[in-house]
Amino acid sequence: MPLSLPLRSVRSLSDPREARIQFATSWAVELGAGETPHIAEIESLLDDSAEPSAGCRLHVWYGAPVDEDVAPLMPYLPPLEQAEVRRFQISSHRWSVAAARAAARMQLAELLNCAPEKVSIVRDPLGKPKLDPAAHGALVERIHFNISHTTGLVAVAIATRRIGIDVEAVMSLDDMDGIAAATFAPPMLEALKSARQPSERIALFYRFWTLGEAFIKATGQGLAQDLRSFAFSQVDPPLLTHLDGIRNPTQRWAFATIDATSPVADGPSA
Ligand SMILES: CC(C)(COP(=O)(O)OP(=O)(O)OC[C@H]1O[C@@H](n2cnc3c(N)ncnc32)[C@H](O)[C@@H]1OP(=O)(O)O)[C@@H](O)C(=O)NCCC(=O)NCCS
Repeated sequence: MPLSLPLRSVRSLSDPREARIQFATSWAVELGAGETPHIAEIESLLDDSAEPSAGCRLHVWYGAPVDEDVAPLMPYLPPLEQAEVRRFQISSHRWSVAAARAAARMQLAELLNCAPEKVSIVRDPLGKPKLDPAAHGALVERIHFNISHTTGLVAVAIATRRIGIDVEAVMSLDDMDGIAAATFAPPMLEALKSARQPSERIALFYRFWTLGEAFIKATGQGLAQDLRSFAFSQVDPPLLTHLDGIRNPTQRWAFATIDATSPVADGPSA
């Protein structure tokens, strides 16, 4: 069962493939020495007595619109964020920004034992939102989160280590090769060239794209990070096969990726 949030205009999904759109999604999480990632319920994310007792725990939530009414979401956002949401001209954009932010606040509030609008979030210099140490003290070191929004699907990832998540609505892109050439490292470009079917190429493009986005969101660097400084494996499980200047990057980061066309049993359980 997915964590169900009492938000009238949001449907929590037990699997993102229940969404009505075709999408791709990935998450990236940092690992401590010898750690492997464990998917956890939100209630046991910080519970060190839960099994397994060590390692990196993460919780991933996906939601889809029931309607595009943002009124039920607004009470969960502080006034400044409500004003930001109102500035979006397109109703689907308003909904997805409000839904992702409200859902993140509700889940963080559960961990922090406070009201969602009291969750204090600050942004680091490159834009990554994080819990405010002045309000939440040492817990900030143990609770990391990230959100992603696209039309028709939103996601929230919370973890005990740095985490990033990306969801993208899949579209056929006129200049897919040009975008890939500008953003992907050579091994990923080679893999893309070797894909024979157009559907295979689109799936691979979005796999690499969402893995890259999740990674640069986990590090917090965003577009300040050289997008051609890292590469991912073409096949599952997704591995960071190259990262400039880092030996054995596969041991430092874990990933999961899923696209709307993959069978339900093969995706990351989240
Ligand atoms: C901002 C960026 C980090 C993600 O943007 P995006 O994919 O368009 O949007 P998403 O919905 O996935 O994520 C947006 C959320 O990321 C978070 N975010 C913003 N800057 C961030 C950063 N530096 N690190 C982590 N998270 C960040 C915010 O919570 C933001 O939502 P909010 O403003 O409502 O709070 C940035 O990487 C970007 O614009 N990328 C697009 C283009 C690109 O070239 N990608 C390369 C693929 S390899």
